[in-house]
Amino acid sequence: MYYKTLKKLLFKFDPETAHGLAEFALKNGGNFDFILNLISKNFSYQNEALKQNIFGLNFANPLGIGGGFDKNATMIKALNALGFGYLEYGTFTPKPQPGNAKPRLFRLIEEESLQNAMGFNNEGWEAIAKRVEKNYPFKAPLIANIGKNKITPNEDALKDYEILTQKFKDLCDIFVINISSPNTPNLRDLQDEKFIKDIFETMKNITTKPILLKIAPDMSFGKAIDLCSCAVQNGTNGVIINNTSIDYSLTPNAKDFGGLSGKLITKKSKELFKAVANELFGETILISCGGIDNGKEAYERIKMGASLVEIYTSFIFKGPSVIKNINSQIANLLEKDGFTNITQAIGVNAKKAI
Ligand SMILES: Cc1cc2nc3c(=O)[nH]c(=O)nc-3n(C[C@H](O)[C@H](O)[C@H](O)COP(=O)(O)O)c2cc1C
Repeated sequence: MYYKTLKKLLFKFDPETAHGLAEFALKNGGNFDFILNLISKNFSYQNEALKQNIFGLNFANPLGIGGGFDKNATMIKALNALGFGYLEYGTFTPKPQPGNAKPRLFRLIEEESLQNAMGFNNEGWEAIAKRVEKNYPFKAPLIANIGKNKITPNEDALKDYEILTQKFKDLCDIFVINISSPNTPNLRDLQDEKFIKDIFETMKNITTKPILLKIAPDMSFGKAIDLCSCAVQNGTNGVIINNTSIDYSLTPNAKDFGGLSGKLITKKSKELFKAVANELFGETILISCGGIDNGKEAYERIKMGASLVEIYTSFIFKGPSVIKNINSQIANLLEKDGFTNITQAIGVNAKKAI
């Protein structure tokens, strides 16, 4: 079935039910090799030029699924078969939690954007660890995106991240620290130098796996650069720019809670990425996320300094074909620019590289 038809059907349901239906299909489809092969044959795209090694890990392409799509690690195999070059599960927390009151996920159809106030609804570390154990090590790099429970006060937040690092150090290739969701009260207050210093010290004592910091888009360029520089000084292996935005001036259709994602944040996200990349390209791995829905946009971020890119909202609006489209467009643009491998394009437009 073409996604256009499927989307018509899915969009008849409220967004969270639609997500649940998609998850049901991807989770169960992932149990059968012949279905995975079928998905892969139809959707995935291979090209030598897109392959790179980062952190000693092989990435078949630079496109990953953004955090929060696969909160409970139920769709790893199917998402890989669809063509993502790396997978991310979470954000999950030590204890299971239901997340915020529903409705908490909204479509802004005209704007090809979403607004969500999910609040780290997840099954908790134990259930997720049991599931990931069956899939790890995985053939594509696997990221664990970790957060704190809503009931954990910020003074004790470090403990939550410590527990999850302990429990998942042998169940992922990379960690992402999420202190940038707008949907857990005061979580973003942890985006400060003291917490960054403490969390990297704590996690680095437990694991040698690469650790990435994911930041919010709602801060000045200067603050973002300071925050990312602080993470670099404290041993981060990379930064993901960025999470959803609480800049409700981006549309008159926004609710006054939850984070915006998709086309509405493309410009904001790109500008913030550019500002940070111009300072930090070459010093750490940079990952761009926010409003990417085509290969040209992804390639621009790569030339600005992104080694990897991530999508969430365009996957909902455009369907699985967006993965192949983005990857094949990047490959075409690389060829057009005379590059034989993606690594030659990364950061060519970053200020420091010129
Ligand atoms: C419904 C929804 C849930 C999300 N949950 C998480 C999450 O749990 N952890 C996280 O790091 N990011 C989460 N995000 C943010 C995305 O990973 C991404 O950073 C953001 O949506 C911007 O990318 P996009 O414009 O391609 O969607 C969520 C986004 C959406 C739309």
